[in-house]
Amino acid sequence: MNICIAGSGYVGLVTGACFADLGNNVICMDNDKAKIAKLKKGIIPIYEPGLEELVKRNKKEGRLKFTSSLREAVRASGVIFICVGTPPRGNGEADLSFVEHVSREIALSMPSYRLIVEKSTVPVNTGEWVAHTIKVFNKRNIKFDVASNPEFLREGQAIEDFMHPDRIVIGVESDRARDILLELYKPLNAPMVITDIKSAELIKHASNSFLATKISFINAIANICDTVGADVVEVARGMGLDRRIGSNFLSAGIGFGGFCLPKDLSAFVRIAEKLGYDFGILKEAQRVNDNQRRLLIKKITTLLWNLPKKTISVLGLSFKPDTDDIRYSPALDIVTLLRAEGAHIKVYDPKAMPKVKKLLGGGVEFCEDAYSAARSSDCLIVATEWNEFKELDFKKIKRLMRQPVVIDGRNIYDPKDMRALGFKYAGIGRGNK
Ligand code: UDX
Repeated sequence: MNICIAGSGYVGLVTGACFADLGNNVICMDNDKAKIAKLKKGIIPIYEPGLEELVKRNKKEGRLKFTSSLREAVRASGVIFICVGTPPRGNGEADLSFVEHVSREIALSMPSYRLIVEKSTVPVNTGEWVAHTIKVFNKRNIKFDVASNPEFLREGQAIEDFMHPDRIVIGVESDRARDILLELYKPLNAPMVITDIKSAELIKHASNSFLATKISFINAIANICDTVGADVVEVARGMGLDRRIGSNFLSAGIGFGGFCLPKDLSAFVRIAEKLGYDFGILKEAQRVNDNQRRLLIKKITTLLWNLPKKTISVLGLSFKPDTDDIRYSPALDIVTLLRAEGAHIKVYDPKAMPKVKKLLGGGVEFCEDAYSAARSSDCLIVATEWNEFKELDFKKIKRLMRQPVVIDGRNIYDPKDMRALGFKYAGIGRGNK
């Protein structure tokens, strides 16, 4: 099939490259001309394992092209995926002006029937607005369909998630739209959820909010564990083996971040509010999440007493491992809170340091590895669980540090081992362990 991807950000680029790899002709469009020029040269603006090879291979084989002209892409394609950003506004609501703009441009450019598919995360009822906008500007009354096909890609494993999804959700209002999308996804062996557009839109927000709530739930349990001296890792294991609960997304820590869960949670709270429903559970999930960062600072003061002039090393800056994405990163919140307390901060991250340098400038000391971060430090914090931090030589680290204090914000070490090595150690919800 001939496919247009309107908006070549994270979702758009991964979706476009994967559809091309399945044998389709894909044109990725973005109005950022500098980005398109780079993509044409094979330079990928984000770090995502496997994406660069995928883009290069499909570009070379002629199935993947890039343009800054939506008109050109729409004319060449039968199916148009809207993958533009829906950034949060000050009140948490999603800003849908890019979706509206693209819908209008599609209406003005389509020469014959087109299927327009929303892939960006959007509030319920956006499909109706997209269809309305296209109708208003579709002066020649050309036939079209709108569909919703939310994405569930996780950063760091986006290609794997695209090629082997748990499910594919398709919200349609016509047989023609349904058949096109079924044909497109035929090569992927995944359960299909075919539903109406509004239900498909809701599946996305409901799923992400549920995942966020699950994390906040285990973090609340972790806080109880800390007060009574129980171990949240054991509690989570005991809960997760119940198949109705499941063991995924039960890792306690300094909370969730990234551009999806926090943003989608706020947006869903606002959507519900507008529909006249007070989504209290989700507000509480947000409150628990915000508080996890502050609780970590409390733990540090318990172990270090005063923070001004202490040197604190933070390992990991991205919002999770295997990505350089620092948007809404809990690790960065920790850095900001510690700086406000007057501590000297040393940081190290395998991938995210260039982005953090741009954001924070010279306010923190950037180190070339975990060991140089630990040197002369009063406390070492693990804020993001990169694999390389699991393999550190803690005998060496102990020699390097001024005081042997480790705060494990992601529960990656065995408390007993750390104490046996002579560290003052605190995890999240590890109680007396
Ligand atoms: C998420 C959804 O998982 C994905 O389906 C959607 O398409 C986009 O949003 P992503 O933002 O890439 O994906 O990250 P995810 O792996 O879900 O992690 C989000 C945050 O939750 C991270 O900060 C992570 O550290 C945290 N997390 C995750 C926990 O604190 N505990 C857990 O048990 C799991």
